[in-house]
Amino acid sequence: MGQLRHFILVLLFPVALSLDFIKSGASRNVLLEKSRIQPAADVQHNVKKRSTDQGGDTCKALQGYDSKLSSNTHSYVFNDLSGSVSLAWIGDGTGVLLALTTFQVPLFMLKFGQSRLYRSEDYGKTFDDVTSLINNTFISTYFGIAIGPEQSGKVILAGDLYGNSGYRIFLSKDFGKSFTHSDLPFSPQMQIMYNPQNSNVLVAVSTKNDLWISENFGETWRNIHDTVCVVKWGRDNTLFFSTNRNGSCYDRGALTLRKTVDNGLTFKTIAEKIYSFGIGGRFLFASVMMGTGVMRMIHVSVDQGEEWNMAQLPPVGHEQFYSILAANDDVVFMHVDEPGDTGFGTIYVSDDRGMVYSKSLEHHLYTATGGDNDFTNVTSLRGVFMTSVLSEDGSVQTVVSFDQGGEWVPLKKPENSKCDSTAKDKDACSLHIHASYSISMKVNVPVLPLSEPNAVGLIIAHGSVGDAISVLTPDVYVSDDGGYTWLRALEGPHHYAILDSGGLLVAVEHKPNMPISQVKFSTDEGQCWHVYNFTKEPLYFTGLASEPGARSMNVSIWGYREDLFTQYWVSVTIDFRELLTRDCGDEDYVPWLAHSNDISDPNDGCMLGYKEHFLRLKKDSVCWNGRDYIISKQPTPCPCTLDDFLCDFGYYRKENSSECVEQAELRGHDLEICIHGKKEHLQTSGYRKIPGDKCEGGKEPQRKVIDVRSKCVSNLLEPELQKQDETKHSHSAPVIVTVVAILLISCIAGVLFVKKYICGGRFLVHRYSVLQHNAEANGIEGMDEALDTDVAGHAKIGFHDDSDEDLLE
Ligand SMILES: *[C@@H]1O[C@H](CO)[C@@H](O)[C@H](O)[C@H]1NC(C)=O
Ligand SMILES: *[C@@H]1O[C@H](CO)[C@@H](O)[C@H](O)[C@H]1NC(C)=O
Ligand SMILES: *[C@@H]1O[C@H](CO)[C@@H](O)[C@H](O)[C@H]1NC(C)=O
Ligand SMILES: *[C@@H]1O[C@H](CO)[C@@H](O)[C@H](O)[C@H]1NC(C)=O
Ligand SMILES: *[C@@H]1O[C@H](CO)[C@@H](O)[C@H](O)[C@H]1NC(C)=O
Ligand SMILES: *[C@@H]1O[C@H](CO)[C@@H](O)[C@H](O)[C@H]1NC(C)=O
Repeated sequence: MGQLRHFILVLLFPVALSLDFIKSGASRNVLLEKSRIQPAADVQHNVKKRSTDQGGDTCKALQGYDSKLSSNTHSYVFNDLSGSVSLAWIGDGTGVLLALTTFQVPLFMLKFGQSRLYRSEDYGKTFDDVTSLINNTFISTYFGIAIGPEQSGKVILAGDLYGNSGYRIFLSKDFGKSFTHSDLPFSPQMQIMYNPQNSNVLVAVSTKNDLWISENFGETWRNIHDTVCVVKWGRDNTLFFSTNRNGSCYDRGALTLRKTVDNGLTFKTIAEKIYSFGIGGRFLFASVMMGTGVMRMIHVSVDQGEEWNMAQLPPVGHEQFYSILAANDDVVFMHVDEPGDTGFGTIYVSDDRGMVYSKSLEHHLYTATGGDNDFTNVTSLRGVFMTSVLSEDGSVQTVVSFDQGGEWVPLKKPENSKCDSTAKDKDACSLHIHASYSISMKVNVPVLPLSEPNAVGLIIAHGSVGDAISVLTPDVYVSDDGGYTWLRALEGPHHYAILDSGGLLVAVEHKPNMPISQVKFSTDEGQCWHVYNFTKEPLYFTGLASEPGARSMNVSIWGYREDLFTQYWVSVTIDFRELLTRDCGDEDYVPWLAHSNDISDPNDGCMLGYKEHFLRLKKDSVCWNGRDYIISKQPTPCPCTLDDFLCDFGYYRKENSSECVEQAELRGHDLEICIHGKKEHLQTSGYRKIPGDKCEGGKEPQRKVIDVRSKCVSNLLEPELQKQDETKHSHSAPVIVTVVAILLISCIAGVLFVKKYICGGRFLVHRYSVLQHNAEANGIEGMDEALDTDVAGHAKIGFHDDSDEDLLE
C-alpha cells in the first residue's frame, strides 16, 4: 500500500471584525481554567539504551546551535487578511507547497468569497503570489484542493463561480506552476477523485447524482450513470458505486452496488439491497439487507465483488453498528457495538480471508454519537496498535497490543513520572494516551499521537499517568521502542513533528491566545530538548507544518500577528540541515531488535512469527540520516508458539492468557458459518494462524479438532446444512454464497450498521488538519472539527460522518 505523500493542512484564525472572535476566545478560556498536573521531578531522564557514552548526557552533544539556526530561519509575511489557509504539498521531495487563503463573507442572501494562491518551491521558505493563475476565483474550502496520486504533479482547484451557475476547475500538470481552467458541465457534490492508478482519469458525482468521468484530465467529461450515491476506486482501474433505481440515496438498504472496469462503457451489478460499501486492503465490504429489510450484514469479497462471503461475526441488534477500524491486505480490525447506548463494543480481528473473526478486545470505547474512538495503528513498529477501553466505572484507559490484536495490555508507567490522583496505588499505575476521544471531549490536546513508518519505534503522544485517563492538562510522552517503554518528554500540551526519519523531533508549546517565539527540538528521540527563539516578534501560533513522510529537515511554524486593526499570516521556516552538520556513518548506527528487551535471548523479539533486527541511530549521534535513508532490517523466522495463532471462530482469549477458550455465549446463536460453512470450515481446534504470521516449526497447538456444527442448534438451519451435504457429498460444498441466496434465508441475524471505516489512506485524495477548532467561530463553511488528523498527515484519518452518509469509507 503506497503511502500518500501529499496532504492538506488548514490553518485558521479568527476574523477580527466579527463578534465571533469573542466567542472563540471564551471557549478557549474554559480549557485554560483546567488545573495542571504537578510537574515531574527530572524531565531530562536519560534512557541508556543506544547511547555509546553510558550515563552520559546527550544534552551536551549539541552546542552553539543558536547562530546556526538563526542564519537558517526564514520568515515570510503574507499581506493577506483571509481567515483560513490551506497548505498542500505536491510531490515527494520537490519542496513545492501551495498555500491557498480563503476569505468569505455572507452578504445578505448572497455569499461572496475570494481566494489567494501562493506557491513555494523551497519547502515554504519563500512564496510567490500566484493568485493571477486562478483569477481571484473563490476556491471552495471544503473540496477545493485535490492533489494527484504519487509523483503525478497534478493539482485540481475547484472554484465556485458565485451567481454564474456552474463550477470552474483549475488544472495543473506541472506541480502548480501553470494552470488551465475548464468549466464543468455539472456541479460537483464531492471532491473530484483521481483514479489512483491513472491520474488522467477523474470522476465526480454531481449534485443531481449523475456520475461523470473524464479520461483526459478534466478536458472533457462524460455522464456515465445516473442516480449514483457513493463512488470509490478499487484496484485494477475498477470503479465501484452504489445507485438506487428509484432515485433516492436516502433509501438505504435498497441500493445496488455496481462496478465498471472500462471507465463506464460497461457496468456489472455485483450486489443488491446494499446499505453501504467500502474498500480496505484487498477486501471489498458491503452491508446487505437481510430478509425483512430492517437488518443487514457485512459481506466480504476479495475478487472485486465477483464472489462474496459473509463476515462471521456475532449478530448485533437494531441500534448497534459495525465499524472497520483498520484493514490491510492481510487483516481487518472490526468493531462491533454493544447493544444499548453503552459507548463501547468489541474488537474482532479477521483471518486472511476477512471472513472468520475472533474476539480481540472487549469494552472498546467507541461513541455512537460522533463515532469517536482511539484506535491507532502505530506505524513505526509492525503489529502495534493502541486504543482505549471504557471501564465499568466510566473511566477511560489506554491499552496496547504488540501482536496485531492478539493480546491487549496497559501501557507501562514512564519511569520519570508519578501517578496522578486517578491512581489508587501511588506506585502502580499506567500511562494513558489522548487521542480522538479526548479531542472530542475538548481536553486540551492539540494533536493526535504521531508515528511514522521510517522513524522506527518512535511514538510521540499526549498522555496522563494514573489508573485512567485524566482530563487535566496532559503532558507529551515519547516511546522509542514502539510503545513498550515511555518517557515523559515535555510538560503540557504541544504540537509536534518528526523530521529526518526520527533523527529530529520538533515541538511548539500549545498556548492558545498567547503569542509564542520559541520552538523546541530534540536530536535524541525526545530525551533532551533544546529551545530556540525563532523570532523577536512573537506570533499567535496556529500549526506546525513539515513535508509529509518525515524525511524533511525543514519545518514551518504558521501563525499570525496582530496590528491595531488587522491580523496577517506569517510563516517561519527553520532549516535544521546546518545543525546536523555531518551525514551519519556506519558507526552512528547500532543494532536493535524490535519487540525485545534482551537482544541476547534467542526467543525474544518474535512477532507474527519472525523477528527483525534494525540498525538504528545512536541517541547521542548528532548527524543527518538524509532524505534517502532506508531502514535497514533483517527478518529471521521464529518457532511457533500459541501466540502465533488466532482463536478461530467460536473461541476467544481471556485476558492474560494465550489459550483459546470457547465463547460460551455463541451457543444457541445461529451463525452464518453454520449455514454456509464447508465442512472444513466448521471443524476447528480453536486456533488459526494469524494472517501474515511466518513462524516455522515449534509448538503447534495440540487439541482435538471439533465440529462447530454442534453449536448450530437451530432446527431452522439444519436442513440447509443437510442439503449442502447431500448435494455435494464431499468436503467441497460451496462456501461461496451469492448475495441472492443469502437474501432468501430468513435467519436471526443482527442489524449491521456500519458506522465508520478508517483505511490506511489508500483512497484518500486529500487530508485536512484543522489546527484550531474555532471554525464555527469565524463562519467558514465546512471547516468544523469534522476534518482532523495530525499535522504530519500520517495514515490515521478521522472522518466524522453523520448517519445519513455512507459510513463504510
Ligand atoms: C477574470 O475574471 C473576470 C471577472 O469574472 C473576467 O472578466 C476576466 O476575463 C477573467 N480573466 C481571466 C484571465 O480569466
Ligand atoms: C421503487 O419504489 C417502488 C414503489 O415505492 C417499490 O415497490 C420498489 O421496490 C422500489 N424499488 C427499488 C429498487 O427500490
Ligand atoms: C498499520 O500501519 C502499517 C505502516 O503504515 C501498515 O503497513 C499496516 O498495513 C497497517 N495495518 C493495518 C491493519 O492497517
Ligand atoms: C529566548 O526568549 C526567552 C523569553 O522569551 C528569554 O528568556 C531567553 O533568554 C531567550 N533566549 C535567547 C538565547 O535569546
Ligand atoms: C530544506 O529546504 C531546502 C530548500 O530551501 C532544500 O534544498 C532542502 O533539500 C530541504 N531539506 C530537506 C531535508 O528536505
Ligand atoms: C492480567 O495481568 C495483569 C498484570 O499482570 C493483572 O493486573 C490483571 O489482573 C490480569 N488480569 C486477569 C484477568 O488476570
